[in-house]
Amino acid sequence: MLSQRRILLAVTGGIAAYKSLELLRLFKKQGADVRVVMTKAATAFVQPLSFQALSGHAVHCHLLDTEAEHAMGHIELARWADVLVIAPATANTLANFAHGLADDLLSTLYLAVTCPVYIAPAMNHVMWKHPATQANVKTLRTYGVNLISPESGEQACGEMGIGRMAEPETICQQLIDDLTVTHPQILSGLNIVITAGATREPLDPVRYLTNRSSGKMGYALAIAAQQAGANVILISGVKQLPTPTYCYFVSVETAQQMHAAVFENIKDCDIFIGAAAVADYRPVACGEEKIKKQADQLTLTLQKNPDILADVAALKTPPFTVGFAAETSDLEHYARDKLTRKKLNMIAANWVGRAEGGFERDENALDVFWQDGKKTLPMTEKSELAQQLIALIAERFNALN
Ligand code: C5P
Repeated sequence: MLSQRRILLAVTGGIAAYKSLELLRLFKKQGADVRVVMTKAATAFVQPLSFQALSGHAVHCHLLDTEAEHAMGHIELARWADVLVIAPATANTLANFAHGLADDLLSTLYLAVTCPVYIAPAMNHVMWKHPATQANVKTLRTYGVNLISPESGEQACGEMGIGRMAEPETICQQLIDDLTVTHPQILSGLNIVITAGATREPLDPVRYLTNRSSGKMGYALAIAAQQAGANVILISGVKQLPTPTYCYFVSVETAQQMHAAVFENIKDCDIFIGAAAVADYRPVACGEEKIKKQADQLTLTLQKNPDILADVAALKTPPFTVGFAAETSDLEHYARDKLTRKKLNMIAANWVGRAEGGFERDENALDVFWQDGKKTLPMTEKSELAQQLIALIAERFNALN
């Protein structure tokens, strides 16, 4: 699947460097021509000779390379590569890239390549969550770098959390998916924020109110938008899906947190898609103590949550705003009412509570409405449906811009 592809694999100094040997083997197995660059720290974890033996080429470790044709190894390698993959990428490497440092071969190479760049970060979970690291990742995404998100689990340091490098199979598969399928770049360079999944509104320390949204539609839209060339930020509530690796991802729990996360990320946003099933109400107060079973009846007092979609559409210069409507009756009437009331550019409506489609399913159908138009997208896989909806959004966005 990767034959004729020239992959430049950069290994930086983390314990996950040993997994890069397996990644190299997988790339080779798929027919790729692979050259390896290692930072100084990486060579402390794995010997360059191992990568040389598996790739069949000398490993590049130095910026000032007397072996390089024109003594400019970084330029020669940058011109050679079809794709640059940094796995593992340490916090230091992310910081170097985000700030444009060029003090070793890899950081210089990063500035010199014009090919797609993939980073698979690996670090301690506290380092990963640090605002500085998160800011660097966000910056890199705006530079068009493809993030292969770290996974959650036991770490080499013995702690649990998010920060383990994605498995070599995942990284290899992502490259295969991206490099072998060509999607029309109808959203090239646009910034898209998508909400997905269900919010969870705590009632007490152990209970919460939520709904049946799986997040599948929103996640499929994030993939379709990313494949169409957009820079995607996915803000997700509770979901049944693995944490995505293809975009910048923000995890939230409550509607208020989702509202805050959206408004932190809405600057420069061209298109906003509210696919999340946001709880309309939250319990007025979440006590510190578990609610005790006493009377036969218990009354909950609920407070209305902010309407994220309506608030985005009410911005002074709003992005192209797309909402969803899940209805059990009078689909067009309620969907059009939301379109007007919330001042949306487009609304995608679907039936819920029926046997076919809707929540938790892999398939769905949508009736899409905008001010002077309507289109039905018939029942199909959510991944296919997402591509059709993204194409329609791109069409309507271009009609207005
Ligand atoms: O008004 P209703 O909840 O039916 O509208 C659904 C649409 O509004 C969806 O796109 C959903 O993501 C969005 N929504 C929101 N914030 C809320 C409630 C709904 O963004 N508090």
